[in-house]
Amino acid sequence: MKRFDIVVGDITCSDAEAIVNAANTSLLGGSGVDGAIHRAASQSLLEECRALGGCETGKAKLTKGYRLPAKYVIHTPGPIWQGGGLGEPALLASCYRSCLSLAAASGIETVDFPSISTGIYGYPLPQAATVALRAIMDWLSEHELPRRVRMVCHTEAVATIYRQTWNLWYAGEKADRI
Ligand code: APR
Repeated sequence: MKRFDIVVGDITCSDAEAIVNAANTSLLGGSGVDGAIHRAASQSLLEECRALGGCETGKAKLTKGYRLPAKYVIHTPGPIWQGGGLGEPALLASCYRSCLSLAAASGIETVDFPSISTGIYGYPLPQAATVALRAIMDWLSEHELPRRVRMVCHTEAVATIYRQTWNLWYAGEKADRI
């Protein structure tokens, strides 16, 4: 099993043990991938989220997946892009690390991420991809769990940016390219 991969798809159909939700701090649902995950999981997800009392930007909280194929959902509010000078890169990196840390602590072996903050929150994709891949690859180089992490991009255009970024920074050999 490849430890890391970049794929195109709908994260609500993912067969990973846990999928990550690009949430907001209320954890009460929204549009984008948040809305898609809540719709696919059913109302039970919202009821569990209500009991969590929200989540700070850059932190992460775990719930069950309910009707989703994934057993768990890890909710993390990403930073809203405000030009890059208000700590957005550190907060985005913290989202990835918090999710990976929570997954590892829960014994979760496979985790799929969406491209956090790059939709409604407006984080420019190339900058977000660099931050996301650095946080993921740093984590995987120092920890056994998760055994597999994937970036699930909703479109080929998003995947191309992640693949270009990964190949630039992490493909030592041509054979390593994604
Ligand atoms: N599967 C995978 N990726 C998806 C899906 C899906 N079903 N739906 C959307 N995406 C992608 C978007 O194309 C984007 O690349 O997820 C990425 C994150 O976009 P958003 O969902 O808009 O999340 P974000 O930018 O982090 O904004 C979060 O939006 O939905 C609200 O409640 C949420 O307030 C919060 C804000």
